[in-house]
Amino acid sequence: MKIAIVGGTGDLGEALAKRLCSKYEVIVGSRSAEKASVAAQKIKEDVKKTLGTEVVVKGFQNEMASSLADVVVLAVPYEFALETANALSKSINPNSILVCPVVPMKKGEGGFEYSPPNSLSMAQAVSNIVKVPVVAAFHTLPAERLGDLSVQPDFDVPICGDSKEAIETVKNIVLSIPNLRPLVVGPLKLSYLVESLTPLILNVAIKNKLKNLSIKFV
Ligand SMILES: NC(=O)c1ccc[n+]([C@@H]2O[C@H](COP(=O)([O-])OP(=O)(O)OC[C@H]3O[C@@H](n4cnc5c(N)ncnc54)[C@H](OP(=O)(O)O)[C@@H]3O)[C@@H](O)[C@H]2O)c1
Repeated sequence: MKIAIVGGTGDLGEALAKRLCSKYEVIVGSRSAEKASVAAQKIKEDVKKTLGTEVVVKGFQNEMASSLADVVVLAVPYEFALETANALSKSINPNSILVCPVVPMKKGEGGFEYSPPNSLSMAQAVSNIVKVPVVAAFHTLPAERLGDLSVQPDFDVPICGDSKEAIETVKNIVLSIPNLRPLVVGPLKLSYLVESLTPLILNVAIKNKLKNLSIKFV
């Protein structure tokens, strides 16, 4: 299975690529093909250095990456998520699924606040643009911890989506990372619940001087 990470040169994208490239064909996407290639090379070198294994990671411009993949992860900042989804809508493999980890939030006076576009969750808004099933996942995984291959983060990954097959695919991707547990929350219309966990986590981290927090249901 091929997984393209649009914005794969960024914090979450690189961390996911490092975790997934041992089991899947990972394609790093970027607005720049050259930047994607450099990032892909760095990910291969990091994995070789930490795990001692040779992996294949390719780098392409975002639209090309999305056309080649079975699963496309939209790992760009929320301000650019809808325009990026628009840009991908023509190129994305029509048989693929799109995973949306995007957290729409803004910094208010008291801390971070959930700030979705036009009263829809970000995943719903993206789903209105692309013509493939959208699954909301990965919002609460801290990139720094996820990208450190020397530790196994023991976190839960809440998932929302309307397609059973697409949810199964994403659950299996989560299960491919040791110690992560996928938990289905419900349909995509409930994804606001999951997206809004991240400003909660960030406020708790900042106010209590904690780092790399995530969630675990016990
Ligand atoms: N960081 C985390 O710990 C974390 C955890 C969970 C979820 N998330 C969510 O994951 C998404 C990515 O977060 P991140 O921290 O990885 O972001 P990031 O590092 O700030 O950016 C990711 C990539 O987005 C691309 N990008 C920047 N400006 C863009 C634009 N105007 N149009 C299109 N692409 C643009 C860049 O890639 P190119 O320059 O190569 O195109 C960049 O490397 C966010 O929506 C965030 O809410 C993040």
